[in-house]
Amino acid sequence: MQVLDGKIASQSVKEQLRQEVSQLMAEGKRAPHLAAILVGSNGASETYVANKVKSCAEIGFESTLVRLEETVSEEALLNTIQNLNNDAGIDGILVQLPLPKHISEQKVIETIHPDKDVDGFHPNSVGKLVQGLETFVPATPYGIMLMLEHFNISTKGKHAVVIGRSNIVGRPMSVLLSSNHAYGNCTVTICHSHTANLKEICLQGDIIVAALGRPEFVKADMVKPGAVIIDVGITRVNDATAKKGYRIKGDVAYNEVATVAGAITPVPGGVGLMTIAGLMKNTLVAYKRRIS
Ligand SMILES: NC(=O)c1ccc[n+]([C@@H]2O[C@H](COP(=O)([O-])OP(=O)(O)OC[C@H]3O[C@@H](n4cnc5c(N)ncnc54)[C@H](OP(=O)(O)O)[C@@H]3O)[C@@H](O)[C@H]2O)c1
Repeated sequence: MQVLDGKIASQSVKEQLRQEVSQLMAEGKRAPHLAAILVGSNGASETYVANKVKSCAEIGFESTLVRLEETVSEEALLNTIQNLNNDAGIDGILVQLPLPKHISEQKVIETIHPDKDVDGFHPNSVGKLVQGLETFVPATPYGIMLMLEHFNISTKGKHAVVIGRSNIVGRPMSVLLSSNHAYGNCTVTICHSHTANLKEICLQGDIIVAALGRPEFVKADMVKPGAVIIDVGITRVNDATAKKGYRIKGDVAYNEVATVAGAITPVPGGVGLMTIAGLMKNTLVAYKRRIS
């Protein structure tokens, strides 16, 4: 059984990026610049944004963190995005989700200029992805593809089962795995909360991508021996014995599934780190397009 270690794969991607940035700097160019907007102070969102900012620093990117109050109006947030759209020094913009209920995520996503849409959530980016055109791929599915590439996981002709159909993970993941490229060419089944016989479908999967947000949902008896298991889930589960009072759980019951799987990503230390690597790669692409 192979552990698909996100630390190793993400470090490799980040090292390549670091070298590219240092080359750019040696040529006298400015550094790529990512702007992140954080609304409110949700604990998980704080951690995600802090990790993104830290990764920028490691690679040599500039980053700007814009913090807005939980009560900020939708209009004020959209204006902030417009200002970043118009700022020539900013290459990529991300707005950390989820947002407070009074703000439309869709409006926010659509306000980010497609050229700076490094999270790849804008309908322009999604449309291009579906058509197989070059675009910003949503960071988590992109990170998973980078992981498959890093560990040279064979996908061609395999049956991939994707559990979850969200716009940020499941749906784009299903598109990428079914697309005609080196780490695609799978036959994909996409499952959701109305899927009948989920266990039977999972048992047919050579690859399972679990992205449903239900801790330890995928059990050993749902997994075909030797299958590749990609665990996207991140849920904070209360645990009084843990230092922080909670533990991070994936969507896969790791200990039991690891006895059946051929390869598996851990949580933490798996897909989450690759998501940041995907975001960083998108930011460099956005930068290169802008300065070329
Ligand atoms: N590692 C990372 O970097 C990263 C990045 C993003 C998200 N995540 C994590 O990944 C998980 C999924 O995130 P998301 O944003 O995609 O979640 P989401 O928007 O809540 O979508 C969950 C999807 O799972 C489906 N689902 C829920 N319960 C199910 C069940 N019992 N059986 C089959 N399908 C079921 C839902 O079906 P319906 O469509 O029918 O409701 C939905 O399509 C969460 O734990 C999130 O924290 C991790």
